[in-house]
Amino acid sequence: MKTVIYPGSFDPLTNGHLDVIQRAARLFDRVIVAVARKGEKQALFGPAERKTMIEHSTANLSNVSVDIFEGLLVEYVEQQSGHAVIRGLRALSDFEFEFQMALMNRSLNEKVETLFMMPRASYSFLSSHLVKEIATLGGDVSAFVTPEVKEALAGKLAQAGAN
Ligand code: PNS
Repeated sequence: MKTVIYPGSFDPLTNGHLDVIQRAARLFDRVIVAVARKGEKQALFGPAERKTMIEHSTANLSNVSVDIFEGLLVEYVEQQSGHAVIRGLRALSDFEFEFQMALMNRSLNEKVETLFMMPRASYSFLSSHLVKEIATLGGDVSAFVTPEVKEALAGKLAQAGAN
């Protein structure tokens, strides 16, 4: 039974993230999407909101579950008896940070392996940051996020506008 952990901020989940989740779900017995609680203050969505959006968007994938974690990723991976960490790699610009993080995690715990997966090329420009910016400026994000996330973004922005 191979369990992999896919950690991230997911503020919010994009179709690029979802593409990586779908690919991982085909390869491994169990995929835990782990939402990092850190950065809560700067995030648009709270950790529970991010978790719910991912749960709704992955409801058709029976071997995928969603959790919230805090503290060191390597400790969380051990707690969950995870075999590896999955990270998405979009472009060369992601590489430096990902390389640093993978090797740092390995130096913290030699047993924690990091595997990189490339999302579909048409998602290689996609990021949560850009999705939030486009939505905030009234642009259409339908091609970049699931209907659940689009609705949550609209709700959040309407709420912000009312305050
Ligand atoms: O989606 P992100 O923001 O690129 O995800 C980064 C994340 C949450 C995977 C990373 O910051 C992380 O693992 N945080 C947990 C704390 C930790 O273990 N830090 C040391 C990493 S070398």
